[in-house]
Amino acid sequence: MTIDELMIQLEELLASGADFDRLLETAVQELSRMDPRFHWTGIYELFSDNVLRLGPYVGSPTDHVFIGVGNGVCGTAVAEKRNLNIPDVRQISNYLACSAETRSELVVLIRSGDRIHAQIDIDSHQVAAFNDDAVAMVQRVADWLAKAYEARGGTRLDG
Ligand code: SME
Repeated sequence: MTIDELMIQLEELLASGADFDRLLETAVQELSRMDPRFHWTGIYELFSDNVLRLGPYVGSPTDHVFIGVGNGVCGTAVAEKRNLNIPDVRQISNYLACSAETRSELVVLIRSGDRIHAQIDIDSHQVAAFNDDAVAMVQRVADWLAKAYEARGGTRLDG
C-alpha cells in the first residue's frame, strides 16, 4: 500500500463509521509495512495526567507502556512540542530503550496547533533511517489522525 492509498483507506473507514481505535490500528499497521526500516511502529496517546500511554503498535513488546512527559525521546517531544528525529539513539542520554537493536527513532506529534493528542513513534535498527521522504509520509498520517481526534470531540485527555 502506498501512502496515498492509506489516506484513502482511512477516509473510507471514517466514512463507514469505523470506531476510532480501528483508525489508529490501521494507520499503525499500514505505516509499519510501508518501509522495511520501520522495525517498531506505534502510537502513544497523551492523557490528562501528562503521561503517554501506549496504543496500537507493530513490533516487539515494550516495557515502556507509560511514559511521563519529559522522559525519553517520546516524552521530550511532548515537553518541547516538536517532532524528534534521532539519527543515533546511542548518542542520547535521555533515551528509553525499547529494543537493544534500535539505532534511530522518529517521533511525529499528532497535534492541533499547540494541543497535542498523541504521537507516532517509529524505531529502526538502522542508523539515520528517517530521511525527508519518510518523515513527510509519517507527517501526513499524523496530520490526518489529528483531524480525526478533533472530529471525535477531543482527546483521551477528556475522558
Ligand atoms: N525509545 C522511546 C521509548 C519507546 S520505545 O522506543 C517503543 C523513548 O525514548 O521515549
